[in-house]
Amino acid sequence: MNKNKNVFTSKVGAILATAGSAVGLGNVWRFPTEAGTNGGGAFILIYVLFMLLLGVPIMVTEFAIGRHGGKDVSHAFVKMSGGKKGWRWMGLIPMVSGFLVLSYYAVVAGWTLYYAYEALIDGFSGKSPEDFTNDFGAFSSDPIQPVLWMGIIIVLTCGIVALGVQKGIERGAKIMMPMLFVFILVLVGCSLTLPNASKGLTFLFQPDFSKVNSSVILSAMGQAFFSLSVGLGCLCTYACYFRKDVDLMKDGLHVASIDTLAALFSGLIIFPAVYSIPGLQPDAGPSLVFVTLPNVFQHEFGDMTWLAYLFSLIFYLLLVMAALTSSISMLEMSTAYFNKNLHLSRPLATVIVSVVCLVLGTFCSLSFGDWKDVQIFGMGFFDLFDFLVAKLIMPIGGMLMCIFLGWVVNEKVLRDELTNHGTIKSPLYPAFRFIIRYFAPICIFLIFVNELYLYFINLFGAY
Ligand code: PHE
Repeated sequence: MNKNKNVFTSKVGAILATAGSAVGLGNVWRFPTEAGTNGGGAFILIYVLFMLLLGVPIMVTEFAIGRHGGKDVSHAFVKMSGGKKGWRWMGLIPMVSGFLVLSYYAVVAGWTLYYAYEALIDGFSGKSPEDFTNDFGAFSSDPIQPVLWMGIIIVLTCGIVALGVQKGIERGAKIMMPMLFVFILVLVGCSLTLPNASKGLTFLFQPDFSKVNSSVILSAMGQAFFSLSVGLGCLCTYACYFRKDVDLMKDGLHVASIDTLAALFSGLIIFPAVYSIPGLQPDAGPSLVFVTLPNVFQHEFGDMTWLAYLFSLIFYLLLVMAALTSSISMLEMSTAYFNKNLHLSRPLATVIVSVVCLVLGTFCSLSFGDWKDVQIFGMGFFDLFDFLVAKLIMPIGGMLMCIFLGWVVNEKVLRDELTNHGTIKSPLYPAFRFIIRYFAPICIFLIFVNELYLYFINLFGAY
């Protein structure tokens, strides 16, 4: 085992931890929701393109900065810039983002835990489609229940992060990620045998370009960012723990492939299931996995109630694990800052961040019920946090990191980092450099301006 406790012990450990951050509710909940509401096939094709052209290069950018710095993100920016202290403030991005993203993500993660529990105690059996709709509405707007389930998720996350980089984060990923993939494969197998599965496949893989408009393109880009966890400095934080022999470019491609596969497989589970009951549509939105699917599970397997039970249980456990491996990386972003910059011990830093997230998360949860009318800039807390993270910080952070690496950092430093000082070949380096210098910043700038434009049109449209 590596003597430095703040380093992932192996290359596999580094890939699994990073893939754990990337594969999450973004793949199993957000991706089908987005693909479903944006018309399926064509959206997916554009999403995959953005993963390759924007997602992977920004991921490698974050890796290079984090690994070069080694200690923590603030220090990494200063070191890579050749000692310019002003860049230290970039370390604040992951610190602030960690709080924001975990606070609202943990709410949905809490819902998945509650649904896993319901599946375990066979709470879905005998329910009608209306029951599922009413139950989800009543549960998510309750002032206490979802907060408690969110609390359990935060406590679990806190426990794992407090154990440290090797014993907590890396070990957690090594246990959960293989299980997650086994669950996914079992469910794909089951789902593909359902009647009308081919309709689900057609929806997923037959692109209908007439459905593509600027909003579909923007959603595909946003989904690629969110799904790969790029732009917030989360991957920078993890890369500080990478060993020096990791091939950053290869790792980026591996993680992106795992993440894309996980998203496509979730589609293979969800859409054949949705089409197996006539009358159900894939564009149910965020309630797809909490209302439509439990309904499908109950009514699809006929007399084989044990199969319905198993299918539901495995599906929600899968969601819980996917959520946990991502929430661990979110908590680590802020924890690492307090631990390294303010010199608090890891357990203390973890507990402080968790308590703050619990409070902010409660606000987010209440925005589905009692605090529905509390609006800031026309949004409830949950939507506001999602907006700040996915629409503001991710694009700005990603753009700044590309500009930093493409224009501020000395070319030799960058080349050395990507080729491990000339010991490995990096044939994609020229393309990578072109993307981070020109393509990515311009593209992200355009998304960002467009998003803001759409937002303000929405806000002031009524006047
Ligand atoms: N990529 C994660 C998912 O797909 C979400 C995430 C975003 C994780 C930002 C860390 C940082 O669910």
